[in-house]
Amino acid sequence: MNYKTFLVSRYGGPEELQLVERHLRAPAQGEARIRVLAATVSRPDVSVRRGEALYSGTLLGQKLPFTPGYAVIGEVEAVGEKVRHVAVGARVGVLTVVGGYTEVLYWRADRLIPVPATLDPAEAAPIILNYIVAYQTMHRVAKVRAGETALIIGASGGIGTALLQLGALAGLKLYAIASQHKHAILTAYSATPIDYRTQDFVSVIRAAEPDGLDVVLDGMMRLKTMQEALSLLRRGGRMVSFGEPASRGELLRILGLALRTKVTPNGKSLSLYGTSTYFLFDQKSYLEDWATLFQWLEAGKIKPVIAARFPLLEAAQANALLESGAVIGNVVLVAPEAARQ
Ligand SMILES: NC(=O)c1ccc[n+]([C@@H]2O[C@H](COP(=O)([O-])OP(=O)(O)OC[C@H]3O[C@@H](n4cnc5c(N)ncnc54)[C@H](OP(=O)(O)O)[C@@H]3O)[C@@H](O)[C@H]2O)c1
Repeated sequence: MNYKTFLVSRYGGPEELQLVERHLRAPAQGEARIRVLAATVSRPDVSVRRGEALYSGTLLGQKLPFTPGYAVIGEVEAVGEKVRHVAVGARVGVLTVVGGYTEVLYWRADRLIPVPATLDPAEAAPIILNYIVAYQTMHRVAKVRAGETALIIGASGGIGTALLQLGALAGLKLYAIASQHKHAILTAYSATPIDYRTQDFVSVIRAAEPDGLDVVLDGMMRLKTMQEALSLLRRGGRMVSFGEPASRGELLRILGLALRTKVTPNGKSLSLYGTSTYFLFDQKSYLEDWATLFQWLEAGKIKPVIAARFPLLEAAQANALLESGAVIGNVVLVAPEAARQ
């Protein structure tokens, strides 16, 4: 029996996402075979496909050919020898970084994330990537407290809308930067919207918050914006940047800024966040945070904004939509099994 998977064999646009057939095999020792129910389509998928990613794959770029797709929800359909962590039929999530655009995924069984089977797989998928980034930057790194003022830079996308929801839930006073035609989603979460094309966010916030901001959560990672946002922090203020720098040179300048901020005695902090910490040393906190987020999703405290659901095998169309810049919230690929749920 065969299954279909997307393969990128040449860096470029969505048309480089080619469907190929693979032979279904038994999982190897320690491995699970997962039937994918939903997969996220996100900004890093675009940069890795274009050969521009700085942190997907390796710092030298993702080796060709590869299957994009940063996160999936699926059901375990077979397990290899010596698998004790998970049973056939379990609903799981995987932070794949690359590999998610596929009908079937083979993955290390000890790296699977428990997911309540009652949840809609399309709503659960953004929890694995966009909500974990939003939750950890806000609660693990910035350690926000109710009543604090926070600025979200890049508030209309997948992570930005997660930050809006989590910020409202945490009792923050929010300012949010996004294109003007996307401001309705910002005000829906009681954020004060700022249009970066027609407004200078520094003067808007200086006028509204003369004592400075407590927190900045930055999904753009552009040096100039970061310097300006840092100038808005009060003493003791924290800024966390989780976006992807435009180039390796910009990344080096940003690392220099983070270092200078650390040694400058102004009480401000600048942290850079990346999900790579999950793979390096921090699985426990990720599993705790995913469990919290799934509880909140089940309880209706959070609800991912889903701009579009595409059939799993229409990844190219879904990527073209994300790249168009028109999306508010998340784009998700959904398998026929999940669409019926
Ligand atoms: N650190 C990690 O582990 C990690 C993981 C996943 C993603 N990321 C990165 O996080 C960033 C956000 O990801 P995402 O999936 O949320 O992306 P997304 O859904 O594509 O959203 C990005 C948003 O930024 C807005 N934007 C563009 N230029 C802007 C500017 N100059 N000022 C303010 N906002 C601007 C865009 O909307 P408008 O401009 O139209 O409002 C867009 O909605 C990306 O750089 C992504 O690579 C990091």
